[in-house]
Amino acid sequence: MASPAQHPNLPLPDYFSKFASVYVRQTGHATLNILADVIKESVQTSANPIGPDSVVHDTAAGPGIGAAALVASLPKDQLPKEMLVSDNVPMMVSAARESLAASPLPKVECKELDSQDLSSASVPDNHFTHSINNFSIFTFVRPADAIRETYRTLRPGGLAIVTCWRRFAPVIIVHAAQKRIRPDLPLMPTPSPQFFEEGVLQRVVEEGGFVKDNITVLDKTLVVADEENIAGLTMLMSGPMMSKAREGYTAEEEARWADAVKESVKGEVDQFGGIRFEAYVLLATK
Ligand SMILES: C[S@@+](CC[C@H](N)C(=O)[O-])C[C@H]1O[C@@H](n2cnc3c(N)ncnc32)[C@H](O)[C@@H]1O
Repeated sequence: MASPAQHPNLPLPDYFSKFASVYVRQTGHATLNILADVIKESVQTSANPIGPDSVVHDTAAGPGIGAAALVASLPKDQLPKEMLVSDNVPMMVSAARESLAASPLPKVECKELDSQDLSSASVPDNHFTHSINNFSIFTFVRPADAIRETYRTLRPGGLAIVTCWRRFAPVIIVHAAQKRIRPDLPLMPTPSPQFFEEGVLQRVVEEGGFVKDNITVLDKTLVVADEENIAGLTMLMSGPMMSKAREGYTAEEEARWADAVKESVKGEVDQFGGIRFEAYVLLATK
């Protein structure tokens, strides 16, 4: 059965349930490492750093990526006193709970919530000092509603951190592999590709209630060059999570897929020195 309200252009029905247990490895830690850098370089140097009095929400958190990034980037005495980790896919929430069981965060709660409607779970107005929405906005069916909920639940003066892809390398590599085998078939769709374009994230964040003057957008690049993370990403692109890319393939064509992905990864690494992710990082104050 499909997850509740899953974006129709995700590669599989129930995509994020299937992804939960392998997520961190098969993303090559890309979302985690980018967020950890953003916290260190942009949040902690802002007028609104995270500290022991902070109350943080990571919405559409996957398996607890925001909490993991905080632990990776902050000294223990600067961790927030309270953290809510939420996602609308039960498997993601249980993976988060498991991964955070021994975390040094003083108080962390993992809950199944819809980012687009937190009021149904009684998340109060003006509650959080910081709200993280990391690489999830393009997977929402109603992205502006999610931002509206971020705005509503942030305290006045609170900081929202919203990221999305400018260049999502795995899809580019998968498309290159498709072109090697069956260039006549349609390329695998990607959910809400408009977010790759400059300005779209900011427009949606303004539509969700944040004022233009209180928004900053930065670019961030991560080149994944270590073998272990390249292997994890290669596994994602070769495996069942990307079966949509092989729709209409014969058994013989299917059998060539893993090699086509390997070749395309090699092309990417030759060109960029690794697998190159580019992101928009938006910081908005309420
Ligand atoms: C690409 S993952 C990003 C996960 C994580 N934030 C990270 O940094 O890696 C997108 C996540 O959004 C979640 N998601 C999609 N729609 C949602 C919604 N309406 N409410 C809550 N979570 C949602 C998915 O279940 C998935 O875990």
